[in-house]
Amino acid sequence: MRDRAPRWWQTAVVYQVYPRSFADSDGDGTGDLNGISGRLDYLAWLGVDAIWISPFYPSPMADFGYDVADYTDVDPLFGTLADFDRLVAAAHERNIRVLVDYVPNHTSDQHPWFVESRASRDNPKADWYVWRDPKPDGGLPNNWISMFAGPTWTWDETRAQYYLHIFLAEQPDLNWRNPEVRDAMFDVARFWLDRGVDGFRIDVAPMVMKDPELRDNPPNPDPGWEHSRLGSWLTQLHVNDHNHPDMHELYRSFRSMLESYPGDRVSIGELHHPDFDRWAEYYGERQDEIHVPFNFHVINSPWTADGVRRAVEGVEGVLPAGAWASWVLGNHDQPRIASAERAGRDQARVAMMLLLTLRGTPTLYYGDEIGMVDVPVAVADSRDPLERLEAGRGRDPERSPMPWDDSPNAGFCPPGVSPWLPIAPDFADVNVAGQAVDPGSLLTLTRDLLQLRREHPILRLGDFEPFGPTPDGVLAFRRIGRSGGQLDVLLNLTAEPRAARGSGAGRVVIGTQRERDGEPVGADVELRPNEGLVVEVGR
Ligand code: NOJ
Repeated sequence: MRDRAPRWWQTAVVYQVYPRSFADSDGDGTGDLNGISGRLDYLAWLGVDAIWISPFYPSPMADFGYDVADYTDVDPLFGTLADFDRLVAAAHERNIRVLVDYVPNHTSDQHPWFVESRASRDNPKADWYVWRDPKPDGGLPNNWISMFAGPTWTWDETRAQYYLHIFLAEQPDLNWRNPEVRDAMFDVARFWLDRGVDGFRIDVAPMVMKDPELRDNPPNPDPGWEHSRLGSWLTQLHVNDHNHPDMHELYRSFRSMLESYPGDRVSIGELHHPDFDRWAEYYGERQDEIHVPFNFHVINSPWTADGVRRAVEGVEGVLPAGAWASWVLGNHDQPRIASAERAGRDQARVAMMLLLTLRGTPTLYYGDEIGMVDVPVAVADSRDPLERLEAGRGRDPERSPMPWDDSPNAGFCPPGVSPWLPIAPDFADVNVAGQAVDPGSLLTLTRDLLQLRREHPILRLGDFEPFGPTPDGVLAFRRIGRSGGQLDVLLNLTAEPRAARGSGAGRVVIGTQRERDGEPVGADVELRPNEGLVVEVGR
């Protein structure tokens, strides 16, 4: 990468839009594509370079769109294909790229492919899904457990066989070992590429190819990632349902297909793997697989300087030469970063500074720029099926509607309409309109950090180097310009003051609390509680 001009996705900041929750243009209480179009000026003002839109395809919504019933259309809840085309054109006019979710592992059980597949054992699509007979003793075909709790097998009366589903029974897994499936799914990608999308976020990227013999998974002696929401799923080592070596050939082909299109189309893979080396394999030996494997190491770490340092250095340490990292602190499956169980409100600014100053492509989850926190939803009112399957794992709290202003329903949907999930009770204080005009707000800090990234090549492309020793609770790293210049990033992850030591005297370029912007500092820097500083060394 060093020798070539950076690709757009290396210098970009991606913004994730969860379409149900972003903006409702037609007053039904659920966000939609025209709602996103109506907020593109906001996203341009904020300064993001790309949006990733979670699924908006026709779906029975058993998993809110991650159960796709037609890969090449738009669910009427979200609009029409014409709305999508207008959204892409309007985003491109504003220099915002558009990434869509590609859900290859499973379809909805209502997808015509599955309806046909389950109709008999000898129809043309009989082998498009993973069907198995019971074991001779009548038991399940193997011991795999669903990521959403319970066995991965559901009995089908018509075929008198089990079908595999790593997620809900309504989400049967496709059989990617069947070349017809592969062709059909590559055609799906081409359909969206032809419509002008700039790339894909690939859902559960490492699960698509399974062990051909579907052998049992061994138990996991050391589940780790106790901070993740993966629950009972961590009790097995997912060696046979996950990360099969055949995935790599598949992603090489997928990348070749992307690269046969003009315009640097990109693949961003959802890749959960606690082992850094295994995770990094998805770049490909020749960096010819997934362009940007998402990494969830920071999300799955405790919010302590040591935890975050281990995650960041672990990722940096295994990146193949020239490979490009990605960073993410929140998404539609994780408690929000500003929630008490993650970093907490007081640390939200420090977290934003971390996300936007690390080396790599950051992805910002909608609402994190204003410090939204999880909005609890009682089990009885929960919309996410996961909550009912394993209490405490439900993802409604991080999916609550975006508060745009302090009007009734927060400007998300018209007053008097019931939003699909409750509006945050603090919306009168935490909303876009209020924070946009407040120079001390988190939104202003986020926008200013984004602008700093755009203006400072060191932040976009400079090298990364951790340094220390640092006092307890302080995380410190340098970004070093290829042609000179250096920025120190000093982050206090505690609620007490800390004396930090930077690389040398300089000037605060931006501080989380803003009163210190422009302040000259020596090598010894006092960090206030919950404070982060970016210091330009030698200025
Ligand atoms: C990962 C997605 O992010 C999540 O929301 C979904 O439930 C599963 N994949 C299944 O598609």
